[in-house]
Amino acid sequence: SKASNGSGNPRDFVAKMKEGKKRIVIFYGSQMFGLASLVCDPEEYDFENLDEVPEDCCVFFVMATYGEGEPTDNAVQLCQNLSDDSFEFSNGDHKLSGLKYVVFGLGNKTYEHYNIIAKNVDSDLTKMGAVRIGERGEGDDDKSMEEDYLEWKDGMWEAFAREMNVEEGQGGDSPDFSVTEVVDHPPEKVYLGELSARALTRSKGIHDAKNPYPAPIAVARELFAGKADRNCIHVELNTEGSGITYQHGDHVGVWPSNSEVEVQRLLCTLGLYDKKDAIINIESLDPALAKVPFPVPTTYITVLRHYIDISAVAGRQILGVLSKFAPTPEAEAFLKNLNSNKEEYANVVGNGCLKLGEILQLAAGNDIHVSPTTENTTAWKIPFDIIVSSIPRLQPRYYSISSSPKLHPHSIHVTCVVLKYESLPNERVKPRWVYGVGSNFLLNLKFAVNGEDVPLIGHAEITEPSAVVGPLYAIDGPRGLYRQETIYKTPIHVRRSTFRLPTNPKSPVIMIGPGTGVAPFRGFVQERVAMARRTVEKNGPEGLADWGSIRLYFGCRRSDQDFLYKNEWSDYAKELHGKFTLRCAFSRENYKPDGSKIYVQDLLWEDREEVADAILNGKGYIYICGDARSMSKSVEETLCKILGEAKGGSAEVEGIAELDPPSTLLDEAHTSF
Ligand code: 2AM
Repeated sequence: SKASNGSGNPRDFVAKMKEGKKRIVIFYGSQMFGLASLVCDPEEYDFENLDEVPEDCCVFFVMATYGEGEPTDNAVQLCQNLSDDSFEFSNGDHKLSGLKYVVFGLGNKTYEHYNIIAKNVDSDLTKMGAVRIGERGEGDDDKSMEEDYLEWKDGMWEAFAREMNVEEGQGGDSPDFSVTEVVDHPPEKVYLGELSARALTRSKGIHDAKNPYPAPIAVARELFAGKADRNCIHVELNTEGSGITYQHGDHVGVWPSNSEVEVQRLLCTLGLYDKKDAIINIESLDPALAKVPFPVPTTYITVLRHYIDISAVAGRQILGVLSKFAPTPEAEAFLKNLNSNKEEYANVVGNGCLKLGEILQLAAGNDIHVSPTTENTTAWKIPFDIIVSSIPRLQPRYYSISSSPKLHPHSIHVTCVVLKYESLPNERVKPRWVYGVGSNFLLNLKFAVNGEDVPLIGHAEITEPSAVVGPLYAIDGPRGLYRQETIYKTPIHVRRSTFRLPTNPKSPVIMIGPGTGVAPFRGFVQERVAMARRTVEKNGPEGLADWGSIRLYFGCRRSDQDFLYKNEWSDYAKELHGKFTLRCAFSRENYKPDGSKIYVQDLLWEDREEVADAILNGKGYIYICGDARSMSKSVEETLCKILGEAKGGSAEVEGIAELDPPSTLLDEAHTSF
């Protein structure tokens, strides 16, 4: 039996609680979201002694659900241990009688299995005799994660105070970190964009979310033709020598940098512009409570550029915290009102898509300028420790990998449409262009890699260069884009997925991927091409005779504009010797007789005989990737109609699950028909 008496086992959280006199332990299974009171990464602890948590203590589970209803990587073990009846806690059974816990889920309603991990953890704990305090909280990242949390927390704290016999206190606003400026620090030991402490010590290790690999950009090009005002970027990341492997259907996490304009804006609003390159050290005030989320020492500008998420729409809570540091009573009142008035916040900040720096400018009566300077921006006296404590870490953006390792073993391809939209007007702010962080980072990378000028963004209000998003400055800067000679690098890691082809090529495959939903399917088709090459080499094209058909349903606006990988498909088709069919719906080129648009689901319906046959008789697999709000729903309905009709009248078909973006697997749909 294991001693849990603080004997120094670093994986023993009960000992840590006792040592630090902590009464709450928070297990935080998330890759997305930062609550103020983060504590333990579940990956770093063992759960055998969960039954030894003292009676006057409470365990918080903050659990994210992603993909096909999976826990985050760091919570896999925890979830397994809780649900596995044969897993024994330290006194030899699978019981947690009387353990007090709180649970909050982080999910997204457009995905299937909404918050399933939090629900499972909750029911597993209840089953084992643990007692939940308050309601189970569920946050929806599609709409209102912070609001869901705020709405839930008051009731939870009330129940918590009752159950734990404590008075409800005021807490929360104190910083988790201290920031100190350091002088005479050796410059080669300052982190300037690296994402893991390993980067400077050069110690080897596997590359994962905690140790991303700075991958050289081998190719970056535009996929849309003509003068479309939209962009879609194809990037090839060179992984040679990195030890990184991947499978078709996996995701790659790309770690972007913030837009340089927003970096400048915050430097100016925080009054840090003149000492932006000063070297700072950051320490956790209570290492048991919060770890510094990025490597230090670093510099002010690096923190804003690479490490914290200053590009998100600012949260309601942080505005209350920062109101104390307002330069004028008006600015203070402005922030306080946004903090307490939910409707006003939703209207001005939510609809206006205002980032923190922009709100601070607005509050101080500055224009939200596209080139913020110390002249046009009021400096606030906000301590940097508050900034670091209240703004979450900048997260990687995940993309479906659009290549197959069988054709490209040392190269990961990304296909990414560039996100740009106009904010809604309100009485405070005019509509402005809002630029997606990850996709505009890739767009700028494309400009940089090819030595292109950053073009003008045409808009009535904004006629200045897209320095609005331009990390071009960062390229000349230190290691942000990791410029080495003329090689540009960006940090990446691979995340495994369950989105896979059937192993047996005899199974027919139907893929539905309009727009960039086609990305993983390019990888799927390449995978089959590589397999076909081997078979044909050995047995000639007859070797493919018993292969199932591969059908890809692609949709875009026009064949001469946004037809992704237009020139590649016929080559793939040749190598697949008639097994591959590409069906295209050009929604702004060909119309139905009644003038309405033709979409992928219309082509599916046209092909209903082949589709039904592939699924019902051929044990076919159906994959859908792309917009989960409308396209996938319509496709799902069409499939139900096709199968219902083929089965004789009923449109009710079991086994077609709700569909997820960006990569959805109707896993073995055939099994239930
Ligand atoms: P549209 O923009 O002309 O409406 C990729 O974005 C393609 O998906 C475009 O051709 C787009 O057409 C189409 N699309 C938009 N909404 C869709 C839906 N509900 N179902 C299927 N395709 C859709």
